[in-house]
Amino acid sequence: MARGELLRKLFQSHRRGNDEEFRSVALRVIAEEERKNNHRLAEDLKRILENGARPASAKRLSGTSVPRDEERQTLLVDVRDPQRTLAEIVLTQSGSEVIGRVLREYRQSELLRAHGLQPATKLLFCGPPGCGKTLCAEVIASELGLPLLYTRFDAVVSSYLGETAANLRKVFDYASSGRWVVLFDEFDAIGKARDDASEHGELKRVINSFLQLLDSFVSPSILVAATNHEQLLDPALWRRFDEVMMFPRPTIHDIRTLIRQKLRNFPQSLDIKEAASKMRGMTHADVEQVCLSAVKAAILDERDIVDSALFADAVAKQRTRLAMSEGDGRPR
Ligand SMILES: Nc1ncnc2c1ncn2[C@@H]1O[C@H](COP(=O)(O)OP(=O)(O)OP(=O)(O)O)[C@@H](O)[C@H]1O
Ligand SMILES: [Mg+2]
Repeated sequence: MARGELLRKLFQSHRRGNDEEFRSVALRVIAEEERKNNHRLAEDLKRILENGARPASAKRLSGTSVPRDEERQTLLVDVRDPQRTLAEIVLTQSGSEVIGRVLREYRQSELLRAHGLQPATKLLFCGPPGCGKTLCAEVIASELGLPLLYTRFDAVVSSYLGETAANLRKVFDYASSGRWVVLFDEFDAIGKARDDASEHGELKRVINSFLQLLDSFVSPSILVAATNHEQLLDPALWRRFDEVMMFPRPTIHDIRTLIRQKLRNFPQSLDIKEAASKMRGMTHADVEQVCLSAVKAAILDERDIVDSALFADAVAKQRTRLAMSEGDGRPR
């Protein structure tokens, strides 16, 4: 069937909500791409189809339902469609090297396995809030054409005593039924609870369960755990990861790159070097916030350019916000 006709059928079956027909047409699109030697695209489409990157409320193709906390009936995971790519993240030199290695090993995993080697698939991301840990997991997923299976760790551990280990198992079971980037976000929820003596026994059980599940997790997925309190994590946990990657606050050079990146869709007349020098100590997320608020102010003031006065104003506002969130009321 000609390509145009196939696409028409694909869209019509989606409109009619006919899953069977949609799947069969999608498989024909994949076969056509394979015939045209577009193997990478065909492989990506297959993965997307098999993982059924749909809203978390939907049942997956395999029939496994999305895991919930037994008591509260809250969802333990969320399936996300990653959007942002490598072009949208600013990484350290060593960070870029780690990510480059992970992507390469994943893409060439068949070759590695043929030599009895395993690609690096278990990653630990550490660093202060707002420096790109969650974003980086999204970037890996989008670069590999995988959906992101997002788990907030505190949704798993803050449940009733004894339920936590069961919740963890449910998440790992669900994760092993597909191919994803599995993100355990705010992973330090384990470490934080250690301060609470009454939680100690339960906590040990949770850590042990997690270690066992992590060790026995053999899957074509990539697993990422992210924390901003790495010092609280058990050393036994660190050893379980193939790569540990740090996400520090941006250098002045990074801040300049970030300003250019975040303002790329809006005209600006800034002296970037000068602008960046006033933002020392801010996180990547702070820099983004400044850029967004400068653009908003320009639009609302009906100006067609972000100039240095508007930008300085946005920097000052962000400093005030940061000082307020630190609780001393004084700008940093
Ligand atoms: N390294 C970066 N490069 C480009 N943009 C970034 C970077 N880090 C953060 N940002 C921007 O700030 C937003 C928030 O960052 P993100 O959620 O990835 O931080 P985080 O390290 O996961 O923080 P937390 O510890 O609070 O979860 C991102 O969605 C992105 O828009
Ligand atoms: Mg995060």
